[in-house]
Amino acid sequence: MYNLIDGKKVAGEIKLEIAKEVSLLRLQGKKIPHLAAILVGNNGSSETYVANKVKDCKEVGFKSTLLTFTVDITEAELLEKIDELNNDDDVDGFIVQLPLPAHISENKIIEAINPEKDADGFHPVNIGKMVIGLPGYLPATPFGIVELFKRYKIDSRGKSCVVIGRSNIVGRPLSILMSQKGIDATVTVVHSRSRNINEIVGGADIIIAAIGSPGFVTAGMVKVGAVVIDVGTTRIPSPDAKSGYKLAGDVDFENVAPKCSYITPVPGGVGPMTRVSLLRNTLMAVKSKIK
Ligand code: GUN
Repeated sequence: MYNLIDGKKVAGEIKLEIAKEVSLLRLQGKKIPHLAAILVGNNGSSETYVANKVKDCKEVGFKSTLLTFTVDITEAELLEKIDELNNDDDVDGFIVQLPLPAHISENKIIEAINPEKDADGFHPVNIGKMVIGLPGYLPATPFGIVELFKRYKIDSRGKSCVVIGRSNIVGRPLSILMSQKGIDATVTVVHSRSRNINEIVGGADIIIAAIGSPGFVTAGMVKVGAVVIDVGTTRIPSPDAKSGYKLAGDVDFENVAPKCSYITPVPGGVGPMTRVSLLRNTLMAVKSKIK
């Protein structure tokens, strides 16, 4: 029987821990953490993500600001908004929800964010710090996944870990974290140009799927006893669901789960941990200022 990794439950526990810290800051008359989010256009997934992030802030007692812009905002205008947030002393951290419209360079926007306020941990300075193991903001999804390994005491030392996907947000940073001292996995990254994916994934003790292709990881690809982490959250139209869609992971859960030692569900696995990681980064931004 497999163990279900309950990201929702763990995220709830971490939120309580954060809320306690915020109460303490309040009691001590210190600054209340303030996270701002920029949302451009009307991508349904992005709107949901950002609304949830604002809700999370409320839950733990953070202040939050949501700045929304229509899809026709220019790159120069967006850079100006970022400059304003960089210079707003009340804002401890902020994020720019991705993807951005095609006429705006995501790299340019990310590079414009003050690394000390980069709650998403996407700025090259924070990515660089992560690579060499210096303290800094970690990208939210990789940070959340590593925390799941810790809280479930899943031993990754010396284990083979295959990361499927090489995005800047998840696959690539996660591949680096999983090989770091203390986590100590032996990491392989597979991507759209990789050959023999089935064979490589089939040999893995730990499989982390982050490609956004529903049901990509099938039972035949998974070794008995593997740990499977599913980062996929593709929206599939579903007339029965209240929202009109349901979320589909990258793993064929029903058939893969019986072969696993541990597995994350979708929803309720990695997603809530991503959200809570953003709160942790924002709290860290405030604490580093207090110091
Ligand atoms: N788009 C998908 N995931 C993320 C995330 O973690 N942060 C931001 N800013 N955009 C995203």
